[in-house]
Amino acid sequence: MMEQKMANLKGKSFLTLRDFSKDEIFHLLDLATKLKDEKKNNIYSDRFKGKTIALIFEKRSTRTRCSFETAFGENGGFPVFLSTDDIQLGQKETVEDTARVLGSMFDAIQYRGFSQENVNKLAKFSNVPVYNGLTDEYHPTQILADILTIREHFGNENGIKLMYAGDGRNNVAISLMIGCAKVGINFYLATPKELNPPQEIVDECKIYAKKNNTEIKISDQIKDLAPNIDVIYTDVWVSMGEEKVAAEREKLLGRFQVNEKLFQLTNNEKAVFMHCLPAVREKEVTAEIIDGSRSIVWQQAENRKYTIKAVMAATLNGE
Ligand code: CP
Ligand code: NVA
Repeated sequence: MMEQKMANLKGKSFLTLRDFSKDEIFHLLDLATKLKDEKKNNIYSDRFKGKTIALIFEKRSTRTRCSFETAFGENGGFPVFLSTDDIQLGQKETVEDTARVLGSMFDAIQYRGFSQENVNKLAKFSNVPVYNGLTDEYHPTQILADILTIREHFGNENGIKLMYAGDGRNNVAISLMIGCAKVGINFYLATPKELNPPQEIVDECKIYAKKNNTEIKISDQIKDLAPNIDVIYTDVWVSMGEEKVAAEREKLLGRFQVNEKLFQLTNNEKAVFMHCLPAVREKEVTAEIIDGSRSIVWQQAENRKYTIKAVMAATLNGE
């Protein structure tokens, strides 16, 4: 097992990977590996005994919700699921007031929804650790699972070449660029110019990447980026809440589909396929690829649980 780096994250919220150093991210990944081993070896821990977490969901979820609920519950904690049909968040009550009340009753809060501002406010006004389970801007817990999966598959993430092909300005693409840049993964973004990420985030990530001697390249010419890639990653063309622009997106993104032809361009027989899921087969990825031998998406999905458990164990218990 990898040696655990020293980092004390007790009391800290997990809102975006921008707030975490490389050592802190490595600490969470090492802890996730330890927690995964614990579970696989049937070692029971009651690390969350007597603790409660509020799980606020304004958008649907399979992996994120189930990761939080099972990870917290199986170690003695009590998760409470709150959909927008259940609570007043921002409707009849301000986010600040909801934060104050939930913070007085729960040990932690998870928020999945539209606005990053909401999750930031929950953190500011609740006085308990708050976790971003996806907003329009970021999806940071996803990226921990992605890096852990790359580490497990290749033995080490350092120097790996990852290409994300698709919507370059969505929550997953932007968070992945931040995470890769911070931990030493080369990040290549194949996206139409219309969907480029904001330049200030790209510039910030280039500073992180420079420290690791890695690259960030963005191009609308997918063929130029493909040679020697180790990981091809994609996400849906239409994110939750953007259904109105579906036709326009399909037109823009059709030539960025991940398929066998694209894998041939990598010239790397060992290149693998990743996707945060849920996936739409024959849109952003062909069934042949996602269901084929190059795909490591199920391992990636399972790792959501242990990386999320690590975030809770580190921020609630100082593990
Ligand atoms: N990848 C991910 O966040 O999945 P869910 O939307 O199912 O939580
Ligand atoms: N970009 C996608 C990610 C889903 C996990 C969305 O926001 O819908």
